[in-house]
Amino acid sequence: MATDFTEETATDAVIDSLAPSTDPRLREIMTALVRHLHAFTREVELTIPEWNAAIDFLTRTGQKCDADRQEFILLSDVLGESMLVETISNRKYGVATESTVLGPFHVVQSPDLELGANIDLVHTGVPCVVTGRVVSTDGAPLPGATLDVWQANDQGFYDVQQPDVQPRGNGRGLFTADDKGEFWFRTIVPSYYPIPTDGPVGELLIATGRHAFRPAHIHFIVTAPGHRDLTTHIFVAGSEYIESDTVFAVKKSLVEDFEEVTDEALAEKWNVGQVPFRHADFDIIMQPNA
Ligand code: BEZ
Ligand code: FE
Repeated sequence: MATDFTEETATDAVIDSLAPSTDPRLREIMTALVRHLHAFTREVELTIPEWNAAIDFLTRTGQKCDADRQEFILLSDVLGESMLVETISNRKYGVATESTVLGPFHVVQSPDLELGANIDLVHTGVPCVVTGRVVSTDGAPLPGATLDVWQANDQGFYDVQQPDVQPRGNGRGLFTADDKGEFWFRTIVPSYYPIPTDGPVGELLIATGRHAFRPAHIHFIVTAPGHRDLTTHIFVAGSEYIESDTVFAVKKSLVEDFEEVTDEALAEKWNVGQVPFRHADFDIIMQPNA
């Protein structure tokens, strides 16, 4: 006789259906997923209309995705899931610079630029120089490390969001660290900005009384031979929303002072063309591959 599927037998029924040949890690993940999903459903006593609403929400989340838009990652971001995964990963990497979310705006190839180039192509905003050094966990410099950099402008928009206003490549650059592992580039101080809210994730933020803003930051993907690729940001200390990033991506170790510089000699050395300007210094520690 068939066994009844009941509230009590539901979880074991699904777990027992996994074939013995299932990959062990997949089995571990699926077993925990089913346990937690069923426990959640029991805890909130999910109704059929709520289940339908959830299916509709997830369907529309998928429908919002295309080559340039990843609404599922955005959902993961606002639920804190992306940063939980990053944080678990960071725990294993000791002194290395912490990683944080990639975000949806790394969608075009950054132009290959010489050290010292200006990634601000439109000359609005407060000029800024970013300097730093890429080293391994033992302090050894990493000459030839590459730094892919992208940021919003002073109004809080990426180039790809304003194709009629900003030239493609504004706020982007691909740099190669020199023989001491050092890098520098010119830019403007980025602004805080809202994540895309014209999809289901925006609806969720509104329904739960949350704002959509991220504090001002500059994105980096750093690579060096023999080291784990690093996806991270530097955050502008004191920026609006630094305490309430809607994707929870701020780590204290990534918050940097963008100090005001009034020294004319430094303006000349860095070819800034005016004082005052801002300067941020960001050293990057890369984790060797295991
Ligand atoms: C970003 O920083 O570009 C970003 C990150 C997560 C969600 C939306 C935007
Ligand atoms: Fe961003």
